[in-house]
Amino acid sequence: MFNCSFKSIDKDQWLEKYWQKAPCLFKNAFDDPPDFLSPDELAGFSLQEELESRLIIQDIDNNEWSIEHGPFEQSRFSNLTESHWTLLLQSIDCWLPEMHQLLADFNFIPRWRFDDIMVSFATEQGGVGPHADNYDVFLIQGSGQRHWRVGAKGDTSQAKTVIDGMSHLQEFTPIIDVVMQPGDMLYIPPDTPHWGISHGESIGYSVGYRSIQTHQMLALLTENLAESPEHQHFFADLYRKKANDSNFFEQQVVQWAQQELIKLSRQPERLAKLLSQQLSLSKLGIYSHDNTFIIQTLTEDSEIQLQQGVGVNWLLYKGKVRLNIESESFDFALKYQQAVQLLASFAPVSVKLFNFSPELVDFPSALASIVNRGYVNLIK
Ligand code: SIN
Ligand code: CO
Repeated sequence: MFNCSFKSIDKDQWLEKYWQKAPCLFKNAFDDPPDFLSPDELAGFSLQEELESRLIIQDIDNNEWSIEHGPFEQSRFSNLTESHWTLLLQSIDCWLPEMHQLLADFNFIPRWRFDDIMVSFATEQGGVGPHADNYDVFLIQGSGQRHWRVGAKGDTSQAKTVIDGMSHLQEFTPIIDVVMQPGDMLYIPPDTPHWGISHGESIGYSVGYRSIQTHQMLALLTENLAESPEHQHFFADLYRKKANDSNFFEQQVVQWAQQELIKLSRQPERLAKLLSQQLSLSKLGIYSHDNTFIIQTLTEDSEIQLQQGVGVNWLLYKGKVRLNIESESFDFALKYQQAVQLLASFAPVSVKLFNFSPELVDFPSALASIVNRGYVNLIK
């Protein structure tokens, strides 16, 4: 019931049944299990300041967990026990761009939902403990074996212990109980208990997703409002006709606030612009901006491809096709929708689809902007 074949998955059916709703196991999801890093390379990365790394250690004698944050000293690793610890590196895809190849298999989920890839190295019995996350994640077994137990979504009401921001669940009833082999994959929706314990040394990759919360959406709006005086109003108490010397706080202030919020909510274009721009930002914004070619370099037969790692989305906006890359907006005429869509999917795109020809100048200026800003690679 919770088993799916990743290779022959019906994406629509899968999304309807599982995405955000129920965990799912994909046996042999990858013929070539991801193998981007050795344990030594992983440890090497954790010495670097730019990377977010964590060491989670279980003290079995006292049944206690501890968490240490990197960067670590080389000597830290020689002082560790043989078992019961795991090292996690966040956003490793930003440092190893070839990892973005993995994402091609997840193209059925919009790129703006993607957050980062985390890698974990675990020793015998190592793991992060029983917990639930508030995001969707695909856990891919790279090397070695890990015993995963996964509960039903929402089975997270048991008592929790919190250590250094790490929240552990007391217990949950597994509905998936599997020893993952290299190439196997688990999908875990938000608020779903899971616990992986390594059998021997193992490496796992977590493709994590993100979302946006109300307060972040409102913060965007607030920032944008501050720049547009025409949408800013002062509360006015024209209704005041009777002296009020009791400092009573009137309901009219709340009504004013409600009406202002309603007025703002009735501006879908403004919300579309702000949200789509914001959600086209990649997590760390680390991608190469080195531009070795400009629009004049292209020939009629050129193919371009969006650079791996950039954040992207597209939408229909004010009668145009808008492509957002790293919060910059590029508007194209509607006839270029298919070309924009292809480009946004990281596929190689012939510049002919954009009506490009070196002699003619009627190709969209947005194409020149994207090329000249260094967001695409020249494939041929
Ligand atoms: C791990 O790879 O050990 C932790 C991944 C997770 O629980 O989200
Ligand atoms: Co987790």
